[in-house]
Amino acid sequence: MTDRYCVLGNPVAHSRSPVIHAQFAAQRGQDMSYEAVLAPADGFAETVAQFVAAGGKGANVTVPFKEEAFRLSTRRSARAERAGAVNTLVFGEAGVFGDNTDGAGLVRDIEANLGVALAGKRILLLGAGGAARGVIAPLLACRPASLFIANRNADKAEALAKEFSDLAVVDAGNFAKTAGHCFDIVINATSASLSGASLPLPAEIYAPGSLAYDMMYGKGETPFLAQARQQGAALLADGLGMLVEQAAEAFLVWRGVRPETAPVLAELRRQLTA
Ligand code: ATR
Repeated sequence: MTDRYCVLGNPVAHSRSPVIHAQFAAQRGQDMSYEAVLAPADGFAETVAQFVAAGGKGANVTVPFKEEAFRLSTRRSARAERAGAVNTLVFGEAGVFGDNTDGAGLVRDIEANLGVALAGKRILLLGAGGAARGVIAPLLACRPASLFIANRNADKAEALAKEFSDLAVVDAGNFAKTAGHCFDIVINATSASLSGASLPLPAEIYAPGSLAYDMMYGKGETPFLAQARQQGAALLADGLGMLVEQAAEAFLVWRGVRPETAPVLAELRRQLTA
């Protein structure tokens, strides 16, 4: 029987996950289906229960349910525990297993797809919400030279730095506090691009040869990447690669085989710019 998977979100109609997983399944000859399921804002747990009752084997979870998915999981991976959020669920006899593949997806996109090593690099992470929290431990596991978390609300950045202080010394503050520092990799994990807002970043934060990475993506260049280009970043990347890589990692969790991401990413890029 065909194994059923889905992505749960609200909104979810524009999710590219069904297209991505259909291509992965075809590549690896997996008998599975993958659909987008809209969960009501106050009905996430019920929607999960219905999907499980209908034979669902697993699900991805997107905005705004990642924290709720964490709470709903009866067992969690270490990386999900550390992120405080779950984007991948596995339904089994023993209950609901929660994992988080976002950080692994970001690291893989930067290192494998973009060819930029994280070890020894000075990293600036912009934002202190759920998206930022999820990638901190995976970034630190790559042994960067330093990590600075900058956020509009400095208190939230400082709280995050403290939360991960057992892993490394992490600097934190508002955007102005990054003045005088220079970074090899600047990652935007704020949702500022959604409103078209640019961030008040000091000039000269980009080291020669540096990478600006926006976890968001869109049809054209995002406001953050346009600003980074002006400020002298050498390499620019949006979050489409991270989207495909976190999906590949979820596929591996569910099916035990790693799909090939390059052709899927190329196809999505073609569709996005068409
Ligand atoms: P997500 O799950 O996408 O991280 P979130 O938890 O609501 O969503 O966090 C949004 C992040 O984007 C926060 O870091 C927020 O900054 P504050 O903590 O100061 O609110 C940041 N953000 C959103 N809009 C922004 C803007 N216009 N300028 C700067 N930062 C912004």
